[in-house]
Amino acid sequence: MDVRLEPWSDSRFGLLERINTPLMRRHVGGPETPEQLLLRHRRYLELPSLGGVMYAVLVDGEEAGSIAHHRRGWRGAEVHETGWNVLPEFQGRGVALAAGRAMLAALRAEVAADPASPGVLHAFPAVDNAASNALCARLGFTDGGPCDFEYPQRSGRFLRSTDWHLALR
Ligand SMILES: CC(C)(COP(=O)(O)OP(=O)(O)OC[C@H]1O[C@@H](n2cnc3c(N)ncnc32)[C@H](O)[C@@H]1OP(=O)(O)O)[C@@H](O)C(=O)NCCC(=O)NCCS
Repeated sequence: MDVRLEPWSDSRFGLLERINTPLMRRHVGGPETPEQLLLRHRRYLELPSLGGVMYAVLVDGEEAGSIAHHRRGWRGAEVHETGWNVLPEFQGRGVALAAGRAMLAALRAEVAADPASPGVLHAFPAVDNAASNALCARLGFTDGGPCDFEYPQRSGRFLRSTDWHLALR
């Protein structure tokens, strides 16, 4: 199985629509409206100018999911944050693990080359998202315990999440 990451491009809007289902978004508040999805797509395209990247995950050349890192404020400091999605038909085969490792290698290289870049990566899966919490552990993150995590940012909606963290240098 060949798992590759490609920086987000305009042609990936269809992938975003395939991720925007009740099943895929059951731990993050459900599907978004077409308008919200278009705004999300535009944010993904602009992420590199804000020190982040959204990637399409390709398995043997086929669109299988997404994975990102971006910067955010967390408890008074700037950190990197990651999040991921693997479409149901590709789940349970190690795709997220391979994509996570590839994303981490790219982010670590970037952080090593930029002394001003934050040195820690966080992930905030909902406490009952077994697959995503298992993935954090498998990627070597440390469990920092439960927290109330605002998602989407500035929405006023809070998810009971696990605060996982991983040193990048
Ligand atoms: C989380 C998600 C990306 C995992 O994708 P995946 O490709 O199926 O994951 P992998 O096959 O690489 O498995 C990674 C680890 O998670 C474990 N895992 C996967 N699904 C699991 C489940 N349902 N319950 C418990 N553990 C699970 C695997 O066993 C593996 O750990 P191991 O190697 O120690 O056995 C996928 O389930 C998903 O997209 N879910 C919906 C969207 C979502 O919730 N995104 C995260 C928001 S924070």
